[in-house]
Amino acid sequence: MSTNNIPRVEVRNISKYFGNVIALSDVSMAVRAGEVMCLLGDNGAGKSTLIKTLSGVHQQSEGQYFVEGEEVRFNSPRDALNRGIATVYQDLAMIPLMSISRNFFLGSEPTKGIGPLKRFDIAFANRVAHEEMAKMGIDIRDPSQPVGTLSGGERQSVAIARAVYFGAKTLILDEPTAALGVKQAGTVLRYIAQARARGLAVVFITHNPHHAYAVGDRFTILKRGRTFGTFTKEELSREEMVRMMSGADELDALTHELQEFEHTDQLKAEGKLSETEQQLSDKLG
Ligand SMILES: Nc1ncnc2c1ncn2[C@@H]1O[C@H](COP(=O)(O)OP(=O)(O)OP(=O)(O)O)[C@@H](O)[C@H]1O
Ligand SMILES: [Mg+2]
Repeated sequence: MSTNNIPRVEVRNISKYFGNVIALSDVSMAVRAGEVMCLLGDNGAGKSTLIKTLSGVHQQSEGQYFVEGEEVRFNSPRDALNRGIATVYQDLAMIPLMSISRNFFLGSEPTKGIGPLKRFDIAFANRVAHEEMAKMGIDIRDPSQPVGTLSGGERQSVAIARAVYFGAKTLILDEPTAALGVKQAGTVLRYIAQARARGLAVVFITHNPHHAYAVGDRFTILKRGRTFGTFTKEELSREEMVRMMSGADELDALTHELQEFEHTDQLKAEGKLSETEQQLSDKLG
């Protein structure tokens, strides 16, 4: 935990326009060291736009952005990285045929020797990749095996370990568990908790309220570019979160619709449908 309470990253009243599209409107949020902030919301809610603003891909159209209390304006992801803000995107920038350790050091290769003899220091890379993964509780047997042979969850874990090793203070994860099965998602969630325990500030985007509830300390909910606010676990039960994220009204409508189907099936079974209704029902399967 940090000794002070100044957020690692904070945005105040930011808006982002793409031409006529209002992707974000008057959004405020903050993340502190040793905390997991979940960013929740439906498709198109503005989650990716918000984290791309945090990570220097976009600049906000309006509002302010602070890193450790200092107002910033990033011109590129490199600027954000220099301030310790690392982002792991869903489509990981990894090369499947290259080894785990090669991928771990992609863009920052350790070398040995000089001049024409300068080469990638394989032993060093393998050792560090293995150690860093072990620190996070993952035992990779062979760091020289291709990344393509790892599971989706393990691959996400390599990306997170890499960000931590290269000094990230704020870790932003855009739906790392979206395409994963239960067990693999568990691996990534455990990893997120580890990062928090090591004092990182984590922004975790997910569509899954159960994943959010498992590791989140606070929850910021976006809907059509606006915030519903930020909630703690005490303020928002799992049931409420599920309801909020699924869209309670839509769910009620769906329940009603499903009951209608059931009703039709029942009538059909009892032979109470007229001939045309029967044909229609058969056609619909
Ligand atoms: N570069 C862009 N140009 C124009 N419109 C954009 C651009 N990026 C995002 N948008 C629009 O901004 C809105 C928010 O998009 P965003 O990708 O942030 O949503 P999201 O919450 O990440 O959704 P998802 O859950 O589907 O990933 C959408 O209406 C989207 O079409
Ligand atoms: Mg998105």
